[in-house]
Amino acid sequence: MLTNPKADQGLAALPPSLLAPRTNITGGRFAAARSGQTLDVACPSDGGVFSSIPRSDADDVDEAVRAAHQAFHEGPWATFSALDRGRLITKLMGIVDREADALAALESRDTGKPVRLGRADVNAALRYLEFYGGAADKLTGETIPFLDGHTALTLRVPHGVVASIIPWNYPLHMVSRLIGAACGMGNTLVLKPAEDASLSALRFAELALEAGFPAGVINVVTGLGPEAGAALAAHPLVDFVTFTGSSATGAVIQALAARHNRGTSMELGGKSAQILFADADVDAALPVIQNAIIQNAGQTCSAGSRLLVDRRIHGAVIEALAERFSRLVAAPHWQDGDLGPMINAKQAERVRGFIARARSEGARLAAQGGIADGAPSGGHYVPPALFDDVPPESELFRDEVFGPVLAVTPFEDEAEAARLANATDFGLVAGVWTRDGGRQHRMAKRIRAGQVFINAYGAGGGVELPFGGFGRSGHGREKGMEFLRHMSATKTVVFNHG
Ligand code: NAI
Ligand code: MG
Repeated sequence: MLTNPKADQGLAALPPSLLAPRTNITGGRFAAARSGQTLDVACPSDGGVFSSIPRSDADDVDEAVRAAHQAFHEGPWATFSALDRGRLITKLMGIVDREADALAALESRDTGKPVRLGRADVNAALRYLEFYGGAADKLTGETIPFLDGHTALTLRVPHGVVASIIPWNYPLHMVSRLIGAACGMGNTLVLKPAEDASLSALRFAELALEAGFPAGVINVVTGLGPEAGAALAAHPLVDFVTFTGSSATGAVIQALAARHNRGTSMELGGKSAQILFADADVDAALPVIQNAIIQNAGQTCSAGSRLLVDRRIHGAVIEALAERFSRLVAAPHWQDGDLGPMINAKQAERVRGFIARARSEGARLAAQGGIADGAPSGGHYVPPALFDDVPPESELFRDEVFGPVLAVTPFEDEAEAARLANATDFGLVAGVWTRDGGRQHRMAKRIRAGQVFINAYGAGGGVELPFGGFGRSGHGREKGMEFLRHMSATKTVVFNHG
């Protein structure tokens, strides 16, 4: 454990300039909200306020969107070739690498995530920039057999102004992949980060200016969802809207974008299942199953929040998991414990509510971890909970908790396992643990999820792997080459050459 009180709080690597009140970045300029209003920036580990961000309104958003619109239509950006854009992203990667320690410390302080996770997030950001820096000039169109005397082909063209509204759980992942894919494809970007975690996005945009992104290509406007977020989603000069967050807010944002019939991409969370068969390598599976719900304190859209387990090994698995869960400790980020706090008091209350209701709905609390000694009383800690015999009709089986709560339900056979896996309205990720090759393929086919892992699980990982959901988990795919395609539209060109 760290002992220096400054290092303790992740402050050692933080230059004072990063802790000063922040401004929006609009059209290459640093600007406070026109109203002068601000929002406090707090650390979830102790509840302490350590900075502020602009509380932007529709006027501030309008300015940012106009800057992005102008940069797309009139600025030098249109003259950047795909290769130029890729090189710029690669250059940004080098600058982010130089700033890695400070960015990681800033992210841990702003979100309460353990310092090793802050570092992991910076590494993921570097990897996104590496991937899209190289991929920007790799997306091609096609030629289409058509009428005699004609040649038909398709071009991949940018949408124009892409608006992105993102949540607080993995801002560094999202900002880097948006810059990589949206700007790699030639769009300009207006980003509205979450009010609880805006600092890394602001810093990223600042570093992008240093890298040489022209003014107006990357704009960041902070503020509240119903104010700044809603104004952005509904702005008539926005051409495409991407959103990551709750299903309810996703529906609101789609309705706002529909006013102008704009396309959207929705990444809306899940209730992802891991399915453990009796023939699996259980020893290999258990740490992965644990991590998939503990990582980022369960505040991960792809958290493995359900475990379906073969009745024949149910007792032994619960015993082993209970032993593990009872040892888990939620701790302030600077202690780098098993997990950190929830992002804010409201989310902590929400998770405690799920835990309280699960008992009354018939689930059995098999184990619960603890909170670190000396964790500040102002922090938002929830000890991880393991529930067994969770009924498929219960809330805990069906709804996203977004906290460190694992719901275990036993199954009798493969058919029931597949049915239970699909028995929620979500469909984001699944993990299947079995040595039976035929079953691996059957389950991969039957499970309705955007990603299916066999004898593995990727909560948040896999820059190269298309990611997104079915049903209430949303639509559209981020990550990989698929996200570049998504950040573009098809233009068909037909030549009549006789
Ligand atoms: P949220 O979905 O309301 O917030 C996410 C983003 O949307 C933030 O930037 C917020 O400012 C913005 N927003 C909120 N209302 C808006 C509106 N009316 N118009 C435009 N933008 C708006 O999520 P919240 O309230 O922070 O968390 C509630 C629940 O959402 C969590 O418990 C979890 O279940 C889910 N969630 C899922 C995430 C995921 O990665 N899938 C991430 C964050 C939350
Ligand atoms: Mg914060």
